[in-house]
Amino acid sequence: MTNIFYPDDIQVIASSLLAGEVIAIPTETVYGLAAIIDNKAAVQKIFELKNRPLNHPLIVHVADIDKFLLYSKNLPAYAMKLAEKFWPGPLTLVCNKSDFIENYITGNQETVGIRIPNHPVTLALLEQVNCGLAAPSANKFGKISPTEAQHVINDFGSTVKVLDGGKCKIGLESTILDVTHHDFCMLLRPGMISLNEIQATIGETEIRTRFSQNQRVSGNLKYHYAPNKPSLLFHNHSELNRIFQIFNNSVYVLHIKEMDEYQNAHYQKMPSLHTEYAKVLYQNLREADQSSFQAIAIEFPNDHLEWQPIIDKLVKLTAYTHETYKLTEPA
Ligand code: TXA
Ligand code: MG
Repeated sequence: MTNIFYPDDIQVIASSLLAGEVIAIPTETVYGLAAIIDNKAAVQKIFELKNRPLNHPLIVHVADIDKFLLYSKNLPAYAMKLAEKFWPGPLTLVCNKSDFIENYITGNQETVGIRIPNHPVTLALLEQVNCGLAAPSANKFGKISPTEAQHVINDFGSTVKVLDGGKCKIGLESTILDVTHHDFCMLLRPGMISLNEIQATIGETEIRTRFSQNQRVSGNLKYHYAPNKPSLLFHNHSELNRIFQIFNNSVYVLHIKEMDEYQNAHYQKMPSLHTEYAKVLYQNLREADQSSFQAIAIEFPNDHLEWQPIIDKLVKLTAYTHETYKLTEPA
């Protein structure tokens, strides 16, 4: 029996969600593991399925601004400008929560992350259920997010149904912005909506980027989005050669620039446009992880501003391996 459902099945999926099932849904960023926010047992099941610590808050997905206003309170004027400009879209606003949001969604914090996703199937589903859907990315805690239905099946097997809405158009998680303060906002997680776009929308209001200590954004963990294989970033040929040396040439290379291919490694060319790169990054990491090669080597892209959210992910997913292996030869 297949666990994959299609847009024609929205009615069935809506009923299952309302009956308390946890179901994977498509969004433009990554697939989410969704439950009705009013159903405590269903929301708790999300944490169990993901192996996610209970104090990591979930993002609430809503169909429209009315629901956003219902679930939040005390919004600064600039937050409404952001909502109007970027929704539906890959921006999550962390706001003061209203009484309609229970503590089991927010990890007992007084704030809630909310967004309107830009995916026609999920927007239709949200209208059907007429309630917010709590949904973290549909991967095991700390692992690579899914950008197509099959990725969810690969990770969760027959334990969850998936609503197949095709490949995610953005491919990286949403930008998260804390808008709980009236005189400034705070970037909690970089995403494909850039600081420049945000600044242009909110005018004079300051954007801070220093992460506060007491806020729990799992994207803030030092290691995250990690493949199972050792994964390393390289900046040049000598660093790549060092990786070949360490892993006996058994390396899956994700590169952007043209390269001479040699030494029995596998070379996978990545797009040079940041939006295209973002779209296929997780897919390629999954393929690299499933390959027979021992390690993954990823070419560091250029550090122009628009690559920042991608570099953030690459640094986190390689952090663990970089602590173990030094790419420069000891002097
Ligand atoms: O693009 C996305 O945002 C995807 C799709 C499914 O919408 N969702 C996603 O959810 O990435 P998740 O749970 O994997 O990452 C959301 C991050 C978590 O690290 C969580 O800690 C943080 O958002 N978060 C949620 N509510 C928060 C809050 N009230 N305060 C601070 N951080 C919050
Ligand atoms: Mg996640």
